[in-house]
Amino acid sequence: MPNRRTMLPGDKMPTAWYNIMADMPNPPQPYLHPGTQEPLTPDVLTPIFPMSLIEQEVSTERWIDIPGEVIDALRQYRPTPLHRAYRLEKMLGTPARIYYKHEGISPTGSHKSNTAIPQAYYNKQAGIKRLATETGAGQWGCALSLACNWYGMDCTVYMVKVSYHQKPYRKTMMRLWGSDVIASPSNLTNAGRAVLAENPDSLGSLGIAISEAVEDAATHNDTNYSLGSVLNHVLMHQTVIGLECIEQMDMIGEYPDVVVGCCGGGSNFGGLIFPFLGQKFRKEARKDTQFIGVEPAACPSLTRGEYRFDYGDVAKTTPLVKMYTLGHNFMPAGIHAGGLRYHGMSGLISQLVNEGHIEAVAYPQNPVFDAAAMFARAEGIIPAPESSHAIRGGIDAALKAKAENKEKVILIGLSGHGFLDMGAYESYIDGNLQDFELPQAELDKALNELPIIP
Ligand SMILES: Cc1ncc(COP(=O)(O)O)c(C=O)c1O
Repeated sequence: MPNRRTMLPGDKMPTAWYNIMADMPNPPQPYLHPGTQEPLTPDVLTPIFPMSLIEQEVSTERWIDIPGEVIDALRQYRPTPLHRAYRLEKMLGTPARIYYKHEGISPTGSHKSNTAIPQAYYNKQAGIKRLATETGAGQWGCALSLACNWYGMDCTVYMVKVSYHQKPYRKTMMRLWGSDVIASPSNLTNAGRAVLAENPDSLGSLGIAISEAVEDAATHNDTNYSLGSVLNHVLMHQTVIGLECIEQMDMIGEYPDVVVGCCGGGSNFGGLIFPFLGQKFRKEARKDTQFIGVEPAACPSLTRGEYRFDYGDVAKTTPLVKMYTLGHNFMPAGIHAGGLRYHGMSGLISQLVNEGHIEAVAYPQNPVFDAAAMFARAEGIIPAPESSHAIRGGIDAALKAKAENKEKVILIGLSGHGFLDMGAYESYIDGNLQDFELPQAELDKALNELPIIP
């Protein structure tokens, strides 16, 4: 029996990030200025981002060197293992070979450190003293808190209120690493106060928390803003995941037929699939691999949203991105996968879905937690509710392979562990987990508020 885990030697860790923009069949859509709706110029972003990251955002170079200091910091937990899910395969009785890439072993518990570390590094290089950010489930806030701590910067995290109460220990972790954590919407910003004036009981959303963090950064000279997903440079930083997977699968003579990941803003999924998709675009791939993004039925941007220009936040302060969106005013139900409660999606992932290179599916909470429980029992690892969406997609691909009696190779992105999500698991075990149906009328209302851009 081959190894359960394939470990990459430390010296095989990637030394450059892969930029899919070099190989996409069509150039990416430009961002537009939120006020003028004209293509964005870099000077608009300099008040909140360092120039090095703005350059990465628009670069079309295929490979971008990872600074030595960042490689050194990433070595704290990278390369991450690639597991073969033997017990899960047996439980499902499938002829498929199931693999998962385990990003949950990072100190902060998820893939988010892969971009938090370089973002903190580049901001420090630019002389920035503090970063402001949003967080949903708290995974991103934890990752940026630790990275800021490592580089001697302060960090302010606007945490979506529903998660602030659902996941109090995430807040403690961020505070332990030295951050200020504020429940969003808060009364500290104009954006937060505007939401509270309209709805004092607002559960918050990533779109609102982003508005608060951007406003904080834009109104303080020594402070920049940092985003944990959606942007091109964030997805590029995450390509260490897929690049390692290619090497690890090579070591055991495998190549995936199906790659599955969960999609919030698209960063772990993009990081996992872009290196494989790049091989496909360059006609170097060993197989005609299928790429499947999985999202919650309660926040289904890829499967029920429209491919339109929209703002990334509620206060309409971010650039307009052409993406699958539910509308910047869309308020998702308080599902436990807080990191997937975002109205939009990465522009790169959106374009690749629109052009037919990536497929998307959506599941309600209960089937996702059924998959998580099955995985936890078989593999021992308790997955984050977000990552459990990918597991559901991977299990369904394995069951399809069983029905068709095909020996498919399935690769799942396990983006994080769920040790701090016991409240969610407790509800699931007690049968109290609610599935939220998203009524079309509610969706239409949010979509009607989208900006009209020719
Ligand atoms: C464990 C985990 N997976 C996935 C996500 C979704 O983000 P993204 O789509 O950017 O990977 C999050 C976001 O918080 C997360 O915490």
